[in-house]
Amino acid sequence: MMEDFATDFRDGVDINLGIGYVNEKTIPVALLTEAAQAVAGDPVKYRQAFNYGGPAGSANLVKSLRGFLAGTGNGGFDEATVARRRLIIGPCGATSVLDGLTDVMAPGLVVTSDPMYYIYCDALERKGFEVLAVLEDEEGISVAALESKLHALGGGIDRIAFFYLVTVNNPTCTILSNGRRRALLELAARLSREQGRQIPIFYDLAYELLVHDPLAGPFVSMLPEDAAGIAYEIGTLSKVLAPALRIGYLLGPDGPLMNAMVQRTSDAGFSAPLFVQEMAGYLLDRHAAGQIRAVNAGYRTKALAVRKAIELSLGDFLDECRGGSAGFYYYLTFRDVETHPSSSFFKFLTRSTGDPALDGPLENRRPRVMYIPGEYCVHPLGDLVAQGRRQLRLSYGFEDVPAILRAIVWMREAAEYACGRDPAGA
Ligand SMILES: Cc1ncc(COP(=O)(O)O)c(C=O)c1O
Repeated sequence: MMEDFATDFRDGVDINLGIGYVNEKTIPVALLTEAAQAVAGDPVKYRQAFNYGGPAGSANLVKSLRGFLAGTGNGGFDEATVARRRLIIGPCGATSVLDGLTDVMAPGLVVTSDPMYYIYCDALERKGFEVLAVLEDEEGISVAALESKLHALGGGIDRIAFFYLVTVNNPTCTILSNGRRRALLELAARLSREQGRQIPIFYDLAYELLVHDPLAGPFVSMLPEDAAGIAYEIGTLSKVLAPALRIGYLLGPDGPLMNAMVQRTSDAGFSAPLFVQEMAGYLLDRHAAGQIRAVNAGYRTKALAVRKAIELSLGDFLDECRGGSAGFYYYLTFRDVETHPSSSFFKFLTRSTGDPALDGPLENRRPRVMYIPGEYCVHPLGDLVAQGRRQLRLSYGFEDVPAILRAIVWMREAAEYACGRDPAGA
């Protein structure tokens, strides 16, 4: 469905609220140019920056990231905590770190939230893992719902491979509260003790640096509280610097899992291109705080404008609107309107109703709007299958505010059409 749409997407006409791209304006092109020149111009600090590099990451970048995590990117931990953990750089963003786990971990059950980060969960299932998706509420994955699912597993509980928690969830942008972060760590530690093995818990921090609501947080890292040595963090510079850098890292206890991940990076062609890692380190040392402030100021403004438009145009159709405090997605639950790819709502927005008055002429379709149907975001065997058919993820990351607001008005027309009303102004 996405490919069909992407191939004939018309820039400036169609509006893409589906794509997870960052806003182009957040990418600091001038700083990237400065960093590239600094790296090329200092062969002493940046040794052999255009050669192969290695499987664990540039020493300069690892040092810069450690400094960043103990300072600006502070998740509540001190330098000593960071120093006691190993930090490695993946081959190609956080995605490649997540993919690496599917290579180095024995297949089994992966505990995550529902709605889930479907891109990774689909990949896990393709690779022989089973996803145990557990309902989330406004604080993230529900511990009570998880306990009851674990109980229902009976003896199958020893098939748990790992926990995968997205701290600012994709698709909902629900922020995992500190209490839940802790409770889930304690649960994983308890299961590890009971089963006499280490069950890792991976916190995916992809959007953790994009908490832009001044009333939210602060949110803390669980690494300092991890007495069992099972907690890992997966981070990325995609959302705050540039996705094209493809810098993702894994931070956690050193040991067999870390060693296997380094070997896997070596097998995949080494960690991210060395000169790019050096550029990222340069930028973190000098510009991290200002850049993160600017990025968050931009998303905050967009979040507020888009929220207002959602309330105004879609409020009377909605049961719930999640998100708005972090990241750049809203996750909408409609009361009655279905959103899946065969729904009238979807057909209206993709101009495929079959009614020329709504779709426009074949050679010049009216503007189309793309979003991610909730059906893709909920686990197909989970508790949200029915609701998922009435949900959608709307990204306010990529498109600019005026385009997003236009698309939301069309969404209202689509909702009216789906309810059998005459879509005003369509
Ligand atoms: C939850 C989550 N994890 C990981 C990633 C991947 O990030 P990267 O660009 O570093 O591969 C994304 C990208 O959108 C994401 O949403």
